[in-house]
Amino acid sequence: RIAYVNGRYVAHRDATVHIEDRGYQFADGVYEVCEVARGFIVDSKRHLDRLDRSLSELAIDWPIHRSALMTVMREVIRRNRVHDGLVYLQVTRGVAPRDHPFPVGVRPSLVITAKKTNPDALRHKAEAGVKVITVPENRWDRVDIKTVGLLPNVLAKQKAKEAGAYEAWFVDPDGTVKEGASTNAWIVTKDGVLVTRPADHGILRGITRATLFDVAASLGLRVEERAFSVEEALAAREAFLSSATTLATPIVAIDGHPVANGHPGSVALSLRQAFFEIAE
Ligand code: PDD
Repeated sequence: RIAYVNGRYVAHRDATVHIEDRGYQFADGVYEVCEVARGFIVDSKRHLDRLDRSLSELAIDWPIHRSALMTVMREVIRRNRVHDGLVYLQVTRGVAPRDHPFPVGVRPSLVITAKKTNPDALRHKAEAGVKVITVPENRWDRVDIKTVGLLPNVLAKQKAKEAGAYEAWFVDPDGTVKEGASTNAWIVTKDGVLVTRPADHGILRGITRATLFDVAASLGLRVEERAFSVEEALAAREAFLSSATTLATPIVAIDGHPVANGHPGSVALSLRQAFFEIAE
């Protein structure tokens, strides 16, 4: 495998960043995960727009020009012969002696990797549905910035894994669902309306979420952006999650209770199917 690190293509096993990189010391950096389908980056424009926003919220400069970044991502995909898979890209503020305020005159660090995924395995997982648990929201209020500071997400995901579940939903004190540790959260009401939380500062503005709005429209489905509770999700017709890695994947249980009849929802599966046709 080949990785890109600050201007160089290097063997993945030898790819390193400096011990004083601020990503390592302060989680002072941002990232993107993009799906690769048939060798192409899905929703690349939306991903780079979100990267631009994350960088500007943290006052980190673009490490290289946007069009150059696109070229490098494509080159990493090509060199790793990825047909179906994921591209990971990370930008940190750079390398400087440890001190909290922004260092002056440093260049941001850029790392890009790509890996293959197994579309059949992902499809089987989606067709079987996944389980989620709930955890109290304990993240900061700027989770709309896609930073590499993911410790609450890591702890939540580990808790889910130990409970035999795939995902953990962060739930606010008022009982409403925010999102998963690495996915956005959705339900389908008895009337067939898709419901997902408004993308304010409380959740990450998922790229798959945005594309699913388009997919829903193409299927004639209505989407409502509003908060929903765990109780509402359990009583809904369906629940599902979305991300670049999972696309739309049905949820069959929440905290051990079945969602509807406990079978994967057909709306989520048809959104997943239609996603491949609409995504560019
Ligand atoms: N996670 N919410 C959170 C907290 C996320 O970390 C992600 C993505 C999403 C979905 O966003 P998108 O549709 O753009 O993938 C929602 C990536 C995949 C990750 O951390 O691996």
